Amino acid sequence: MTEKIVVVAGASGVLGEDIANALLNKPNVQVRILTRPQSVEKLAALKDKGAEIVAIDLEQSSSEQLASALSGAFSLVSALNGGNDIIVGAQTRLLHAARQAGVRRFIPSSFSYNIFGLDDGDNPNTDERREFAKIADSERGEVEVVHILNGAFLDKRIVFGFLGAFDLQKGQALLWGDADAVTDVTTYWDTARFTAEAAVDEAPLPKVLEVAGETLSFNELVKAYEDASGKSLTIVNKGSLDDLDQEIARKRQAEPGNFYAWLPLMYYRGSFGGKGKLKAIANSRYPAIKPETVREYVQREKL
Ligand SMILES: NC(=O)c1ccc[n+]([C@@H]2O[C@H](COP(=O)([O-])OP(=O)(O)OC[C@H]3O[C@@H](n4cnc5c(N)ncnc54)[C@H](OP(=O)(O)O)[C@@H]3O)[C@@H](O)[C@H]2O)c1
Repeated sequence: MTEKIVVVAGASGVLGEDIANALLNKPNVQVRILTRPQSVEKLAALKDKGAEIVAIDLEQSSSEQLASALSGAFSLVSALNGGNDIIVGAQTRLLHAARQAGVRRFIPSSFSYNIFGLDDGDNPNTDERREFAKIADSERGEVEVVHILNGAFLDKRIVFGFLGAFDLQKGQALLWGDADAVTDVTTYWDTARFTAEAAVDEAPLPKVLEVAGETLSFNELVKAYEDASGKSLTIVNKGSLDDLDQEIARKRQAEPGNFYAWLPLMYYRGSFGGKGKLKAIANSRYPAIKPETVREYVQREKL
């Protein structure tokens, strides 16, 4: 069987490294990593496992240079992170290069809750991902652009960290809005495994591919943590979703440049407020993947 070349951009990052590893675990896949020159050393472990490393500046290289870095590729996966210059700028350049190189599929760095359910202004990071998606709709040519949506990362740094829904040090769960509203969570590794499958899938894929480890309400998430850790949490009622909107507006006005003051609250709003809910979870497309549950994750990480 001939090998498929899958190109990964952003493999020195948290999710990108998992995606590269998930691809390297697959037979008949050749992994080519695009990295900026100063980050080549971060990729030593993936190189040892067989990945080809190509040093290239995604923002300054010509379209010919980018297209040549993509030559022969079946698909291109981006796990890049950054501001508008990366999510819109660099990814648009990559899309054009993919088109020029005849790449079949581009999986951009969407990896979030339902970005298409939010409105402009709800979250600047989400706005950028939708802005890229809009460009991709009109400029993709024959390239299949597939946005993988996975909810929030089931991870101590995200669901149990950044999102602000838990303060495990204090033994608290922090509730805005309805405790029975559901949200979707998926580990980095499961997201990476689904992405690797999508990257090599011969069948046409939809524009949006939703996957999820579990879909749970705030109360169920708390219960899963408590059952798995043996620790109990105090639920602190912070207010309604309207109160949350006001808190976001207040914090943003007070400290516009301090993203950490208000961006996590925006993700909380998107995750538990309904707009970011995934609509058509398609795990069954790749039945060999049995995603990790919240209980399993909490036990494995001994949270
Ligand atoms: N759903 C969720 O809960 C959730 C949570 C977190 C992240 N995410 C999303 O997941 C995706 C990946 O995030 P992550 O946390 O894995 O990112 P990360 O660890 O910050 O890694 C970002 C990657 O982008 C690369 N990069 C940044 N600027 C670049 C540039 N100018 N040129 C070339 N490469 C550049 C970095 O390369 P260097 O090593 O060279 O810096 C790195 O490989 C993003 O779309 C992010 O929004 C989702």
